[in-house]
Amino acid sequence: MAAVGTFTHAHRYVPATDASRPPLLLLHGTGGDENDLISHGRTLAPDAALLSPRGNVLEGGMPRFFRRLSEGVFDEADVRRRADDLADFVAESRRAYGLAAPIAVGFSNGANIAAATLLLRPEALAGAVLLRAMSPLRETPAADLTGKPVLILSGALDPIVPAENVARLADSLSRAGADVDHRVLPAGHALTHQDVDAPRAWLERRVAIEA
Ligand code: MLT
Repeated sequence: MAAVGTFTHAHRYVPATDASRPPLLLLHGTGGDENDLISHGRTLAPDAALLSPRGNVLEGGMPRFFRRLSEGVFDEADVRRRADDLADFVAESRRAYGLAAPIAVGFSNGANIAAATLLLRPEALAGAVLLRAMSPLRETPAADLTGKPVLILSGALDPIVPAENVARLADSLSRAGADVDHRVLPAGHALTHQDVDAPRAWLERRVAIEA
Protein backbone atom coordinates (compact mmCIF):
# COMPACT_ATOMS: atom_id res chain seq x y z
CA MET A 1 0.00 0.00 0.00
CA ALA A 2 1.72 3.20 -1.13
CA ALA A 3 1.67 6.50 0.77
CA VAL A 4 2.56 9.45 -1.43
CA GLY A 5 3.02 13.03 -0.29
CA THR A 6 3.77 14.77 -3.58
CA PHE A 7 1.18 15.69 -6.26
CA THR A 8 -1.31 18.49 -5.52
CA HIS A 9 -2.88 16.43 -2.72
CA ALA A 10 -1.26 14.20 -0.12
CA HIS A 11 -2.89 10.85 -0.74
CA ARG A 12 -2.83 7.10 -0.41
CA TYR A 13 -2.91 4.81 -3.38
CA VAL A 14 -3.75 1.11 -3.17
CA PRO A 15 -3.16 -0.77 -6.45
CA ALA A 16 -5.86 -3.02 -7.91
CA THR A 17 -5.67 -6.78 -7.70
CA ASP A 18 -8.05 -6.88 -10.70
CA ALA A 19 -7.16 -4.08 -13.12
CA SER A 20 -10.49 -4.44 -14.97
CA ARG A 21 -12.34 -3.03 -11.94
CA PRO A 22 -13.00 0.73 -12.04
CA PRO A 23 -10.79 2.55 -9.52
CA LEU A 24 -12.43 4.33 -6.59
CA LEU A 25 -11.61 7.93 -5.66
CA LEU A 26 -12.24 8.13 -1.90
CA LEU A 27 -13.16 11.57 -0.54
CA HIS A 28 -13.35 11.98 3.23
CA GLY A 29 -15.61 14.23 5.31
CA THR A 30 -14.61 17.32 7.33
CA GLY A 31 -11.82 16.48 9.78
CA GLY A 32 -10.94 13.26 8.01
CA ASP A 33 -7.89 12.42 5.98
CA GLU A 34 -6.62 10.06 3.28
CA ASN A 35 -6.80 7.08 5.64
CA ASP A 36 -10.46 7.40 6.61
CA LEU A 37 -12.23 5.64 3.76
CA ILE A 38 -9.61 3.06 2.79
CA SER A 39 -11.29 0.18 4.60
CA HIS A 40 -14.74 1.35 3.38
CA GLY A 41 -13.39 1.37 -0.18
CA ARG A 42 -11.79 -2.04 0.25
CA THR A 43 -15.12 -3.45 1.40
CA LEU A 44 -17.06 -1.80 -1.43
CA ALA A 45 -14.75 -3.01 -4.18
CA PRO A 46 -12.21 -5.58 -2.87
CA ASP A 47 -10.20 -5.83 -6.11
CA ALA A 48 -10.26 -2.20 -7.29
CA ALA A 49 -7.50 0.40 -7.09
CA LEU A 50 -8.13 3.00 -4.37
CA LEU A 51 -7.02 6.61 -4.66
CA SER A 52 -7.58 8.61 -1.51
CA PRO A 53 -6.53 12.28 -1.37
CA ARG A 54 -6.59 14.55 1.67
CA GLY A 55 -8.49 17.83 1.35
CA ASN A 56 -6.17 20.84 1.06
CA VAL A 57 -8.29 23.29 3.06
CA LEU A 58 -7.96 23.51 6.84
CA GLU A 59 -10.86 24.65 9.04
CA GLY A 60 -9.68 24.92 12.64
CA GLY A 61 -7.06 22.30 11.82
CA MET A 62 -9.61 19.96 10.15
CA PRO A 63 -8.95 18.98 6.54
CA ARG A 64 -11.73 19.74 4.03
CA PHE A 65 -12.02 19.88 0.26
CA PHE A 66 -13.25 23.51 0.05
CA ARG A 67 -13.94 26.51 2.28
CA ARG A 68 -17.30 27.19 3.84
CA LEU A 69 -18.66 30.37 5.39
CA SER A 70 -20.77 28.46 7.92
CA GLU A 71 -22.41 25.03 8.22
CA GLY A 72 -23.99 24.35 4.82
CA VAL A 73 -23.03 27.79 3.39
CA PHE A 74 -20.22 27.40 0.91
CA ASP A 75 -17.58 29.75 -0.52
CA GLU A 76 -18.58 28.99 -4.10
CA ALA A 77 -15.52 30.57 -5.73
CA ASP A 78 -13.44 28.22 -3.60
CA VAL A 79 -15.70 25.26 -4.48
CA ARG A 80 -14.99 25.93 -8.17
CA ARG A 81 -11.25 26.33 -7.66
CA ARG A 82 -10.94 23.21 -5.52
CA ALA A 83 -13.06 21.09 -7.87
CA ASP A 84 -10.62 22.09 -10.61
CA ASP A 85 -7.65 21.16 -8.40
CA LEU A 86 -9.21 17.78 -7.60
CA ALA A 87 -9.88 17.07 -11.29
CA ASP A 88 -6.22 17.95 -12.04
CA PHE A 89 -5.10 15.64 -9.23
CA VAL A 90 -7.18 12.82 -10.74
CA ALA A 91 -5.64 13.41 -14.17
CA GLU A 92 -2.12 13.45 -12.68
CA SER A 93 -2.80 10.25 -10.72
CA ARG A 94 -4.25 8.49 -13.74
CA ARG A 95 -1.05 9.20 -15.64
CA ALA A 96 1.21 8.24 -12.74
CA TYR A 97 -0.59 5.02 -11.79
CA GLY A 98 -2.05 4.06 -15.18
CA LEU A 99 -5.68 4.25 -14.07
CA ALA A 100 -9.03 4.50 -15.83
CA ALA A 101 -11.34 7.34 -14.80
CA PRO A 102 -12.41 6.61 -11.20
CA ILE A 103 -15.80 6.39 -9.55
CA ALA A 104 -15.82 8.87 -6.66
CA VAL A 105 -17.03 7.66 -3.27
CA GLY A 106 -17.48 10.73 -1.09
CA PHE A 107 -18.86 11.29 2.37
CA SER A 108 -20.33 14.64 3.47
CA ASN A 109 -17.79 17.33 2.47
CA GLY A 110 -16.17 14.69 0.23
CA ALA A 111 -19.53 13.97 -1.42
CA ASN A 112 -20.03 17.70 -1.99
CA ILE A 113 -16.69 18.15 -3.76
CA ALA A 114 -17.45 15.02 -5.82
CA ALA A 115 -20.78 16.54 -6.89
CA ALA A 116 -19.04 19.84 -7.76
CA THR A 117 -16.37 17.99 -9.76
CA LEU A 118 -19.02 16.05 -11.68
CA LEU A 119 -20.77 19.29 -12.62
CA LEU A 120 -17.66 21.38 -13.35
CA ARG A 121 -15.14 18.83 -14.69
CA PRO A 122 -17.26 15.85 -15.79
CA GLU A 123 -14.38 14.20 -17.64
CA ALA A 124 -12.59 13.57 -14.33
CA LEU A 125 -15.05 10.98 -13.01
CA ALA A 126 -16.70 7.86 -14.41
CA GLY A 127 -19.48 8.14 -11.82
CA ALA A 128 -20.03 8.75 -8.13
CA VAL A 129 -21.40 7.40 -4.88
CA LEU A 130 -22.50 10.43 -2.85
CA LEU A 131 -23.05 9.75 0.86
CA ARG A 132 -24.94 12.58 2.65
CA ALA A 133 -24.31 15.04 -0.18
CA MET A 134 -25.84 18.46 -0.69
CA SER A 135 -25.88 20.87 -3.64
CA PRO A 136 -22.43 22.46 -3.78
CA LEU A 137 -23.48 25.40 -6.00
CA ARG A 138 -26.61 27.56 -6.06
CA GLU A 139 -26.56 27.83 -9.87
CA THR A 140 -26.07 24.52 -11.63
CA PRO A 141 -23.38 24.70 -14.34
CA ALA A 142 -24.31 23.31 -17.76
CA ALA A 143 -22.63 19.90 -17.80
CA ASP A 144 -22.98 16.83 -20.00
CA LEU A 145 -23.14 13.83 -17.68
CA THR A 146 -24.87 11.56 -20.17
CA GLY A 147 -24.92 8.00 -18.89
CA LYS A 148 -22.70 8.62 -15.85
CA PRO A 149 -23.98 6.50 -12.95
CA VAL A 150 -24.56 8.31 -9.65
CA LEU A 151 -25.82 6.74 -6.43
CA ILE A 152 -26.98 9.24 -3.79
CA LEU A 153 -27.65 7.97 -0.28
CA SER A 154 -29.19 10.55 2.01
CA GLY A 155 -30.46 10.28 5.58
CA ALA A 156 -34.13 10.94 6.41
CA LEU A 157 -32.99 12.21 9.83
CA ASP A 158 -29.90 14.12 8.66
CA PRO A 159 -29.70 17.39 10.65
CA ILE A 160 -27.12 18.86 8.20
CA VAL A 161 -28.62 18.15 4.78
CA PRO A 162 -32.16 19.48 4.13
CA ALA A 163 -34.27 17.03 2.07
CA GLU A 164 -35.09 19.67 -0.57
CA ASN A 165 -31.38 20.48 -0.99
CA VAL A 166 -30.32 16.92 -1.85
CA ALA A 167 -33.44 16.50 -4.01
CA ARG A 168 -32.27 19.57 -5.97
CA LEU A 169 -28.83 17.99 -6.40
CA ALA A 170 -30.37 14.73 -7.67
CA ASP A 171 -32.54 16.72 -10.07
CA SER A 172 -29.57 18.79 -11.36
CA LEU A 173 -27.50 15.68 -12.01
CA SER A 174 -30.43 13.93 -13.75
CA ARG A 175 -31.10 16.95 -15.94
CA ALA A 176 -27.42 16.93 -16.94
CA GLY A 177 -27.97 13.35 -18.19
CA ALA A 178 -26.57 11.32 -15.28
CA ASP A 179 -28.18 7.98 -14.44
CA VAL A 180 -29.16 8.91 -10.87
CA ASP A 181 -30.34 6.47 -8.20
CA HIS A 182 -31.31 8.52 -5.12
CA ARG A 183 -32.27 6.59 -1.98
CA VAL A 184 -33.30 8.03 1.38
CA LEU A 185 -32.14 5.83 4.25
CA PRO A 186 -33.58 5.75 7.79
CA ALA A 187 -30.37 7.38 9.05
CA GLY A 188 -28.82 10.65 10.19
CA HIS A 189 -25.60 12.21 8.85
CA ALA A 190 -23.39 9.36 10.10
CA LEU A 191 -22.83 6.31 7.92
CA THR A 192 -24.67 3.05 8.64
CA HIS A 193 -24.28 -0.52 7.35
CA GLN A 194 -26.63 0.43 4.49
CA ASP A 195 -23.95 2.85 3.27
CA VAL A 196 -21.78 -0.22 2.76
CA ASP A 197 -24.36 -2.71 1.47
CA ALA A 198 -26.11 -0.45 -1.07
CA PRO A 199 -22.96 0.95 -2.77
CA ARG A 200 -21.34 -2.48 -2.86
CA ALA A 201 -24.33 -3.98 -4.68
CA TRP A 202 -24.62 -0.88 -6.91
CA LEU A 203 -20.93 -1.09 -7.88
CA GLU A 204 -21.22 -4.83 -8.59
CA ARG A 205 -24.18 -4.10 -10.86
CA ARG A 206 -22.28 -1.35 -12.71
CA VAL A 207 -19.34 -3.71 -13.32
CA ALA A 208 -21.75 -6.39 -14.62
CA ILE A 209 -23.49 -3.88 -16.94
CA GLU A 210 -20.18 -2.68 -18.37
CA ALA A 211 -18.61 -6.17 -18.73
C1 MLT B 1 -19.88 20.76 4.00
O1 MLT B 1 -19.39 21.71 4.57
O2 MLT B 1 -19.39 20.26 2.96
C2 MLT B 1 -21.11 20.18 4.57
O3 MLT B 1 -21.68 21.09 5.46
C3 MLT B 1 -20.87 18.87 5.21
C4 MLT B 1 -19.85 18.98 6.30
O4 MLT B 1 -18.68 18.87 6.02
O5 MLT B 1 -20.24 19.15 7.46
